[in-house]
Amino acid sequence: MVAQLIDGNETATQIREELKAKIGELKSKGVTPGLAVVLVGEDPASQVYVRMKGKSCEELGLYSETIRKPADFKEEELLKLIDQLNADTRVHGILVQLPLPDHINETKILDRISPEKDVDGFHPVNVGRMLIGDPGFLPCTPHGVQELLVRSGNSPEGKHVVVVGRSNIVGKPVAAILMQKKKGANATVTVCHSRTKDLPGIVRQGDIVIAAMGVAQFIKADMVKEGAVVIDVGVNRVDDPSSKKGYKLVGDVDFDRVKEKASAITPVPGGVGPMTIVMLMKNTVISAERTLAK
Ligand SMILES: NC(=O)c1ccc[n+]([C@@H]2O[C@H](COP(=O)([O-])OP(=O)(O)OC[C@H]3O[C@@H](n4cnc5c(N)ncnc54)[C@H](OP(=O)(O)O)[C@@H]3O)[C@@H](O)[C@H]2O)c1
Repeated sequence: MVAQLIDGNETATQIREELKAKIGELKSKGVTPGLAVVLVGEDPASQVYVRMKGKSCEELGLYSETIRKPADFKEEELLKLIDQLNADTRVHGILVQLPLPDHINETKILDRISPEKDVDGFHPVNVGRMLIGDPGFLPCTPHGVQELLVRSGNSPEGKHVVVVGRSNIVGKPVAAILMQKKKGANATVTVCHSRTKDLPGIVRQGDIVIAAMGVAQFIKADMVKEGAVVIDVGVNRVDDPSSKKGYKLVGDVDFDRVKEKASAITPVPGGVGPMTIVMLMKNTVISAERTLAK
């Protein structure tokens, strides 16, 4: 079997087109959805992500603000900045790029963002609402995974989904989203982690496997059931002397071999990655729509 390629770029483009119509409608009512992105420090990967987010806002015609602060920016000042953004009516979504420098308490910062502007979906109120099944904002990467499954014709309904990884940003929320009693969910979910016994045996039971571990090419063909759907969230740098940069990006799945066994699979790059940013845009548009409904 050669797997169907689940194309994240194509799906993200489709969602962007849907958003354009909504943004046009909002603008005709005098509302331009706005996103503020806060970056503290000089982390190179964070700088790339923040640039991509700004560019994506621009392409869609959203109001966007990127606020860059030095690595020694004080926690107290950052809290003040968030208060200002919470009160700014041009801003419907606030995103503080993680990781933050060590002297800043990440939880304290994320908790300060108004849940109504928490387009990353990391505020405890939104995490709780996601679990209850009455979402405020769904976190972008796990929501993107659900959209990829549904839109590629691989609905998780009634399927056994095995998630490898239990982080707060991917593993736990993707499990919470897919287990809901809802259309596009209704899955039976197993979550594995580093203390799981017989991980290969459990992953082999999955009709759908979601790899979110951060270990390059860990999921091998013999760990995957024939015909399974495989979603690779992992992004890992591995040395590649043949490339200009000296490295390449690979996922948590041994793509070349697993694609011979799976019925559908996401590539890295070009799978889950493009979905994360478009779901952030979607949350910002939803937030702006909610201001009109008030
Ligand atoms: N495409 C995107 O937009 C996007 C977004 C977010 C993350 N990512 C990528 O997704 C990957 C995961 O990110 P994350 O933030 O969730 O990572 P994380 O916080 O490091 O969590 C990794 C999880 O995988 C588990 N794990 C690690 N090694 C394992 C092993 N050998 N066997 C079984 N479980 C193992 C860990 O188990 P324990 O809990 O027991 O330690 C943990 O739960 C990374 O490559 C990251 O770059 C991509």
